[in-house]
Amino acid sequence: MDQFSILSNKIHTTKATVGVIGTGYVGSSVAKETASAGYQTFGFDLDKKKVAEINNLKIKNLSAHIKKDLLVDCDIICICVPTPIYKDHSPNLKILKNTIQQVSNYLKKGMMVVIESSVAPGTTRGLILPILQQSKLTAGKDFFLSFSPERIDPGNKKFTMKNIPKIVSGLDENSLKLVIQFYSIFIEKVVQISSLEAAEMTKVLENVFRFVNISLINEIADYTRKLGINIWEVIEAASTKPYGFLPHYPGPGIGGDCIPVLSYYLLDSAKRNNTLLRMVNAAAKINEMQPKKVIDLALKILNGKTRKNNVKSEVLLIGVAYKPGVADLRESATLKIWDMLEKQGISVSYHDPYVSHVNGFSSKSLDPKNLASKDLIIITTAHSNIPYQMLVDSKKPLIDTRNTLQGITSTNIFQLL
Ligand SMILES: NC(=O)c1ccc[n+]([C@@H]2O[C@H](COP(=O)([O-])OP(=O)(O)OC[C@H]3O[C@@H](n4cnc5c(N)ncnc54)[C@H](O)[C@@H]3O)[C@@H](O)[C@H]2O)c1
Repeated sequence: MDQFSILSNKIHTTKATVGVIGTGYVGSSVAKETASAGYQTFGFDLDKKKVAEINNLKIKNLSAHIKKDLLVDCDIICICVPTPIYKDHSPNLKILKNTIQQVSNYLKKGMMVVIESSVAPGTTRGLILPILQQSKLTAGKDFFLSFSPERIDPGNKKFTMKNIPKIVSGLDENSLKLVIQFYSIFIEKVVQISSLEAAEMTKVLENVFRFVNISLINEIADYTRKLGINIWEVIEAASTKPYGFLPHYPGPGIGGDCIPVLSYYLLDSAKRNNTLLRMVNAAAKINEMQPKKVIDLALKILNGKTRKNNVKSEVLLIGVAYKPGVADLRESATLKIWDMLEKQGISVSYHDPYVSHVNGFSSKSLDPKNLASKDLIIITTAHSNIPYQMLVDSKKPLIDTRNTLQGITSTNIFQLL
């Protein structure tokens, strides 16, 4: 039997062994699904804690490992490692490249490699395939290569890996057929895309769409502030239109490892192809300016108070995660705000129910005594489980960057708008 038929049969009979490299947000979800679908699944992660977390769950068919030796037993390898950016916003593909290099050492006839990590168009064919081909095996005949971007939304209870339609693409017809067959077993709807590049671009578009729209609303919010119009009221009103309008909300800056990161991947890709993406560039500039607007308002408030007496101001940040309900700090605007405040000589502390430690600091408990020592409180993440009324009652100046205090009127509340 040819390698395609052998793997197809193993997928059909759930006899295929699945390896998931990187068991973070994405990889742990993939591994849990494949295991519960009946596939023997091995998760691989460098982080001992992640490995222990998975093993402690004691899920049938699932075990996690630091060493990658068991890759040799895998038929399908899902790549879920980070694809971050450097400080200068350029793509950091080091982890992805090293991981593929390792996979290439274990590549054997009948294997399928599926890239789930988010990448710019052209990466699977241009960067990953050549590394795998070092094995001297033939793609499409001896081994199979697919790209299937992950769309999971951490913390979202309504849309989960199972019911979010899965985009799939393959290097060739066989790879495409196999990846469709594989995901169809444990995901409700699989959406077949004609090429690796179109699938890569789909994921990029989804993210850049949000990036541009949030930046647009931040720009509009700057203008409505000048006009004395409340942007939140305007967005709410516009959202009553039953078609053609999708609400996006202003804030201190877009974070997370997807929306801003993939937008910078796109900008880098366009630059390498001598193309200037004016709108995405503008969105990036607007987004990069957002944290400074918070700082400007903070300094304005503080300068009118303690700082003119040369007392070192103390600022409390409410929420360091990039979005509500999660512990994820990647590209969080709050960390940028923190850094900028410290550069002004301001002493910073934080409270976040999901993040117990960051930057060598621990999350401060919220009580009236603790709040009494602060000069300013800034709500940076709209976590739902914060005693917001206590913050208002502290009578301390309170910057609400997320409109979390909507409906509460008090003279100590300041908005960016
Ligand atoms: N988090 C999301 O919401 C989300 C959504 C869609 C797509 N993605 C994309 O999925 C990919 C993974 O994201 P994530 O959020 O799961 O990241 P993550 O940081 O939560 O997890 C990645 C894991 O990979 C591990 N790792 C790093 N190098 C490794 C190596 N060489 N070998 C084994 N393990 C290694 C890390 O220790 C970490 O546990 C990224 O490309 C991201 O852009 C993320």
